[in-house]
Amino acid sequence: MAKMKCIGVLTRDCAGINAAIRAVVRSACAHNIEVIGINRGYCGLIEGDVRLLDRRAVSGIISRGGTILKTARARQFRNRPAQLKAVRTIKANNIDGLIVIGGNGSLTAAHILAHHHKIPVIGVPATIDNDVNGVGMSIGADTAVNVALDALDKIRDTATSLERIFVVEVMGRDCGYIALRVALAGGCEEVLLPEKSFDIKRICQEITQGHEKGKISWIIAVAEGKAKAADIAKKIAKMTKLETREVVLGHVQRGGSPTAFDRILAARYANYAVECLRKGRSDECVTLKNDKLASIALTKAIKSKDIEVKDYYRLIKLLT
Ligand code: F6P
Repeated sequence: MAKMKCIGVLTRDCAGINAAIRAVVRSACAHNIEVIGINRGYCGLIEGDVRLLDRRAVSGIISRGGTILKTARARQFRNRPAQLKAVRTIKANNIDGLIVIGGNGSLTAAHILAHHHKIPVIGVPATIDNDVNGVGMSIGADTAVNVALDALDKIRDTATSLERIFVVEVMGRDCGYIALRVALAGGCEEVLLPEKSFDIKRICQEITQGHEKGKISWIIAVAEGKAKAADIAKKIAKMTKLETREVVLGHVQRGGSPTAFDRILAARYANYAVECLRKGRSDECVTLKNDKLASIALTKAIKSKDIEVKDYYRLIKLLT
């Protein structure tokens, strides 16, 4: 096996990704491996937009959200000519192996590079959606939950002061992870999830009955993959005749300084990804099994993920 001399790193964006880039660079430096950062995700890989990342280049970024490398959606990567351009960039820059830090889309493209183009690639799961299969925690998910929770706590101040109902829409694409965690941590009365059906009449009945007994405010978390907060708020207002407002938290959840949890996860995953490449592994995604670093096939990681809903939902309803 030839010695790894140069690693490329490419990212999506969410909190903790800069901490992961830093850990890739410094782990690689420890073995005298050069690191090349790919600017603007797969777009930069296709267009040859790269830059050298030395130890100094990643100073002071551990606490910063987003990605210093910038990122972009590269739908053209689905086509073979774009993939071949990406391979050319890898070869032209003498990149021996690539670390891809991102969610499902990025990891799917990583698998294409590894499987169809024989480029050594290791994936590092990083997405606020936390929907990478076989991975308990992706980088960025913990920060997103905490950002959403902070907003929800603030909304509760108004909800209780004005005796209102709030419907709060959170991100997560087709996964209810953020909604479920925020609902339990924030003491929401209800949560609507892609993984679960709901009955708006039953929800409104609960609200009306609670209101008759003197309950004055409700917060209902809605996963964006299930419904639009505005639609739900309109229905609730109509059926209960109570003042209802909607809030869409949106991209605020993808930014911010990473939590300690995400920084630690980023350091561990990124360091392990470098070790995997050094050992000649490819087409794999790093993960944790019982808090021990491990890797799974990228083909497994990009399958759809089932999250545990029943127990969390039971607790949310029990504790309201
Ligand atoms: O996958 C991360 C995510 O933030 C999702 O939660 C959300 O649905 C989507 O990306 C938003 O995408 P964009 O930034 O392209 O609008």
